Amino acid sequence: MSNMKLNIAGVEFKNPVIAASGTFGFGREYAEYINLNNIGGISVKGLTLEPRQGNPSPRIAETPSGILNSVGLQNPGVHAFVRDEISFLRKFDTKIIVNIAGNTIEEYCEMVSILNDADIDMIELNVSCPNVKKGCLAFGSTPEGVAEITKQVRRECKKPLIVKLTPNVTDIVSIAKAAENEGADAVSLINTLLGMVIDIHTRRPILHNNMGGLSGPAVKPVAVRMVYQVAKSVNIPIIGMGGISNHEDVIEFLLAGATAVMVGTTNFVNPTACTDIVENLESYMRDKHINQLSELIGKVVPY
Ligand code: FUM
Repeated sequence: MSNMKLNIAGVEFKNPVIAASGTFGFGREYAEYINLNNIGGISVKGLTLEPRQGNPSPRIAETPSGILNSVGLQNPGVHAFVRDEISFLRKFDTKIIVNIAGNTIEEYCEMVSILNDADIDMIELNVSCPNVKKGCLAFGSTPEGVAEITKQVRRECKKPLIVKLTPNVTDIVSIAKAAENEGADAVSLINTLLGMVIDIHTRRPILHNNMGGLSGPAVKPVAVRMVYQVAKSVNIPIIGMGGISNHEDVIEFLLAGATAVMVGTTNFVNPTACTDIVENLESYMRDKHINQLSELIGKVVPY
């Protein structure tokens, strides 16, 4: 029988397919389309200490093989999440990962102290959202910034801690190492690539925020490259993401060195993508006589 189980920092996932933050809300809408029991985990929409309305519209633009978004972390705030959403998510046998974003390190720490007592499985530290003026990228784009925030959050955090990295940097490896050195249990990468689209008729950017984060199949080779580079340099597990739309993409990320993956933009195209991918991974393993999916991790054969 095919075994897709994996363990990250003591958290056992039934399979490596995790719905990516910002593409899956808090799971409610997708529960009408798929059986949430069949996916490894859900990383919920990035939460902030206070509720946020997000950026003005337009904040989504379609691009070749991808989308550009500048949502601006619209969310109901961490208190509302704890009050209204965890009990719904807990009805399902899937891991709950809580993505958090703050303006200051103090805000991140305050959210962590609230979530320490909540019935969730892991925290994903979002230091990589490109669409807000304060916080996030301000910490995530240098090794020093990532080291400082990881150190302070780690001190406060009683849950397994994932640090979600931005690709908008020169050297992703030094940033991943900074997270590892300060106690991150895992890193997830990549968040979106900063981009821009202009309407040539109005001569205005399509997004009200002028710029936004690019995701979808267009970014996959960049993501695979970064996962590969980081995997060679850190010893903590990597959760790979960026343009995954089918089971073959998942295999590619595993070969590059990811232990698990997050599936994002494709959910907007096909709301059953996550469970389709799990089913197709099962068939792939059967066809290829692979007993443990984890056998593939890091098994790329470079030239
Ligand atoms: O704009 C947003 O809400 C995006 C968040 C993220 O990329 O983490």
